[in-house]
Amino acid sequence: MQVIKTVEAIQQILQEYRYASKKIGFVPTMGALHEGHLSLIQKAGTENDIVVASIFVNPTQFNNPEDLDRYPRTPEQDIDRLKESACSIVFLPEVDTIYPADFRAPSVDLGLLDKVMEGKYRPGHFQGVVTVVSRLFEIVQPTNAYFGRKDFQQVAVIKAMTKALSIPVNIIECPTLRDERGLALSSRNLLLTKEDIQTAYHIYETLEYGKKIVALHTPSEVKSLMTNYFMGSKMELEYIEIVDPISLEELTTEWVEGATACIVAHCGNIRLIDNLELTPYG
Ligand code: PAJ
Repeated sequence: MQVIKTVEAIQQILQEYRYASKKIGFVPTMGALHEGHLSLIQKAGTENDIVVASIFVNPTQFNNPEDLDRYPRTPEQDIDRLKESACSIVFLPEVDTIYPADFRAPSVDLGLLDKVMEGKYRPGHFQGVVTVVSRLFEIVQPTNAYFGRKDFQQVAVIKAMTKALSIPVNIIECPTLRDERGLALSSRNLLLTKEDIQTAYHIYETLEYGKKIVALHTPSEVKSLMTNYFMGSKMELEYIEIVDPISLEELTTEWVEGATACIVAHCGNIRLIDNLELTPYG
């Protein structure tokens, strides 16, 4: 496995693959890698001739500077884990490699997609994601790029962005990996104490509860019942929304296929995000 830091070096290697019409799989990450990230790399390994992963804690997607400062960074451990995986190239750029002085962020109108949920609570976050992912796509020019459904809204945003900018890449959505009690694996879990983790299990319990009661209620009713169910917890609830999986419009009276409950809660000062498809007719 090669660790590459510059645009020139990675492009030189990858252009040979492109000339030979080989498939390039790409998994962008912000590091502090866990089994969830590795599941994306494993899938990419089965569907491509070469797998590239990037590790870059992207400053433009953090709307809160403290969150950026305390974001976990474990580069050596990440590289060790990647060596054991299907990854052949790790791209580890510096900030000025991704954002050189003459860099101009693309302008993409995301409509509702960056106004609701994460867009409302983390203003500017998705423009930052679009900026970095479009830049990484420009550098790597992957055939297939892999994203986790854990960041459900991010997948919708990336799909809309590639369409708006006509980027020729397949966006592959991958299932959320969870621990044995359902907590979604996340780099931020490294910041939780053992007690916090016990508390955080209530996020998935709330999603499962929503799934259980879905056949008997409207989306609005399920949302308020889930909110009540959540309230016994020590965590602070930021939002629960039940949305259409493509438009992300809030559902109120009617269910649609793939209706998804999205939740964000603060456990101590750590912000945790999760979602579950409720599929009432499934
Ligand atoms: P990061 O949070 O490091 O996540 C990298 C990828 O791993 C994302 O596609 C995310 O959805 C996926 N992932 C995280 N936890 C997962 C889990 N438990 N199961 C399955 N997949 C999981 O998301 C980002 O980085 C950034 O926004 C990025 C796309 C790299 C742009 O900076």
